[in-house]
Amino acid sequence: MSTRHFPDGFLWGATTSAYQIEGAWNEDGKGEGIWDRFTHRPYNILNGDTGDVACDHYHRMPQDVALIKELGLSSYSFSISWPRVLPLGRGAVNEKGFDFYNRLVDKLLEAEILPVVTLNHWDYPQALEDAGGWPVRDSVDWFADYARVVFDRLGDRVTTWMTHNEPWVVAFLGYATGVHAPGLCDYSKAYQVVHHLLLSHGVTVQLFRQGGYKGEIGIVLNLEGYEPASEREADRAAYQRVYEESASLFLDPLFNGHYPEMLFDWIGPHQPRVLAGDLDLIGQPIDFLGVDYYRTHTVSHAINGTLLKAELGPLPALGWGQTEMGWGINPPGLTATLIDVKDRCGDLKVFIAENGCALHDIPDETGFVADRGRVNYLSAHLQAALEAIDAGVNLGGYYVWSLMDNFEWSMGYGPRFGLVRVEYETGKRIPKQSAYWFSEVIKHNGINI
Ligand code: FCB
Repeated sequence: MSTRHFPDGFLWGATTSAYQIEGAWNEDGKGEGIWDRFTHRPYNILNGDTGDVACDHYHRMPQDVALIKELGLSSYSFSISWPRVLPLGRGAVNEKGFDFYNRLVDKLLEAEILPVVTLNHWDYPQALEDAGGWPVRDSVDWFADYARVVFDRLGDRVTTWMTHNEPWVVAFLGYATGVHAPGLCDYSKAYQVVHHLLLSHGVTVQLFRQGGYKGEIGIVLNLEGYEPASEREADRAAYQRVYEESASLFLDPLFNGHYPEMLFDWIGPHQPRVLAGDLDLIGQPIDFLGVDYYRTHTVSHAINGTLLKAELGPLPALGWGQTEMGWGINPPGLTATLIDVKDRCGDLKVFIAENGCALHDIPDETGFVADRGRVNYLSAHLQAALEAIDAGVNLGGYYVWSLMDNFEWSMGYGPRFGLVRVEYETGKRIPKQSAYWFSEVIKHNGINI
């Protein structure tokens, strides 16, 4: 066995998001978010779970930071709850909400942990949704104004910013399939949402530079692996449509100044309204790209109700299976995805902003989980990351999803992704075997292979 090292200064982190861990959904002046509204309606979430309490991180934050420190992470990536700091989405600032994030940032810095802050990890203010939400063009200014308020409050200490997390998910699960809040089913809206998310990203990057805030700013995309299910022409064409919708729809405007033509031709009347100058704004140079990678899919042509006439299936790599959620575990897919990003975006710095898995965790009588499966998953993906580095990818860090078990959106509290187990009845945190393993990786800045 030998140790393969990562580059000096490589960031080792874990990621969470506000709605999935904070709880305190209506405390200290927080406004209602679309996920509050969505989870409070019946039949949207498995078992009727909500994020009302979640991991109670809002009240347990100091212990959670101590835990992050104990595990030895050099960085922690979290998101701001927009309705917590601007209860109506715009206008009056809820300073109590900022007290929380100020304390969190200070505690992290005290512990020498680099905070990475995402502005939009999906918990959009309900008041803005009621005013038309992401489908209306005003949403671009609402987001930029919110960003400015956050930069002004935290920008003296936070130096790494992500605008949006996984805009594909916001647009398509929120507005086309209705699986996520706000639960709409309208492809025209979904494509308009994509455009407004990207535009608001570009406008925010511009204001970040013009405002003279220090540090770096980027965006996080969910880039999964795809392969045609067969050599059949129909499957290859379906694959091309799916790839363009999940990757090119974002990478083309961010890096090449246009939207993917073949896809736009296919979606026809659902194309978004794009005004002159929009693409220049979207293409503002960024400092890094965050890549969330979990799995790889097969794509086959299917005569079904979806706009792309495509069906996805899990595609585990040889010797691997599926996670608890039926996701095809495919570490080489991560290498391929990172190389694809390099081919399309050049030498831009990349972070693996999320990677992890939900498995059937079985706690012993003390609550400890010997999650060897998760260790295998993470370790194989780290090897895949090393291969990408060998191939010239400028990889700056790796973040596990997630620090701790949490509210997994429409699946509620069923799937557990954490390095740390959360006993939801008591709020108790118990590091799993994978947490101890990850600490060792960090200590050696490398993995044994
Ligand atoms: C990603 C989300 C994150 C979490 C993981 C499992 O798509 O960004 O919030 O739900 O999947």
